[in-house]
Amino acid sequence: MTYTENATPSAPGSDPAFAPALTVTAAMASRRSIRAFQDTPVDAAVLREILEKAQRAPSGGNVQPWHVAMVTGDALRNLITAVQQAMMAGGGIADGEYVIYPPDLPDPYMARRYGVAHAMYDAMGIERSDKMARNMAMAQNFTGFGAPVVAFVHCPRFMGPPQWADMGIYLQSLMLLLREAGLDSCPQEAWSIYGQQVRDVLTIGDDHILYAGLAIGWRDTDAPVNNFPVARAPLDELVCWHGF
Ligand SMILES: Cc1cc2nc3c(=O)[nH]c(=O)nc-3n(C[C@H](O)[C@H](O)[C@H](O)COP(=O)(O)O)c2cc1C
Repeated sequence: MTYTENATPSAPGSDPAFAPALTVTAAMASRRSIRAFQDTPVDAAVLREILEKAQRAPSGGNVQPWHVAMVTGDALRNLITAVQQAMMAGGGIADGEYVIYPPDLPDPYMARRYGVAHAMYDAMGIERSDKMARNMAMAQNFTGFGAPVVAFVHCPRFMGPPQWADMGIYLQSLMLLLREAGLDSCPQEAWSIYGQQVRDVLTIGDDHILYAGLAIGWRDTDAPVNNFPVARAPLDELVCWHGF
């Protein structure tokens, strides 16, 4: 892969194919949602530098609506335990922070959603009919997929759709900068299902809403869940040109 030429891997055992990205194009091409991580810890100084750089993310009116809780070690373990307890107690989607997908999502959106889910479960060797196995794979969200760090992005509840879009821009900025540092990530809106528990453990007030977690670490290059192809719609399905 040309985008990794001359790059050196920064994580123990990492595949040179996933070495630090040297260009934005390389960061875009090599970023994917990683759902199995090595347990190697991430240096706080590296994360601080990435967060400093991500502060250059644009936002409407320069409002910078995002707030971030960086969580690792015992703090992350405590959070995972609290969410697992809530899961076992039967808390869930009905109590979540927001509706993740519009109800009755039509095609082509629903087909794309199913497409990636089927590709992922196929890679994991999970039969489509095996609901229990699918649920267990989904539950891996609430371990951060084994990542050593999870960043939780939240904002004041009064923020509207434009500021939520700003948070998305921020998230992608972080993900690309992580790639530049040889790190990987998975954005996780699943945590919003247990937003109350996350906010309680991290002492984030009820006046804030949890947008997403971002699992951060080094990818397990061998895990099938990190190696299946993720399709994208052809450009002409999405882009119209006027006046060209
Ligand atoms: C805002 C956001 C939230 C997401 N939440 C989850 C999640 O909760 N769990 C998960 O496994 N993947 C999550 N994803 C990953 C998407 O499924 C993934 O981006 C999409 O399928 C495209 O795959 P790729 O990121 O590997 O290119 C999320 C992505 C975004 C942008």
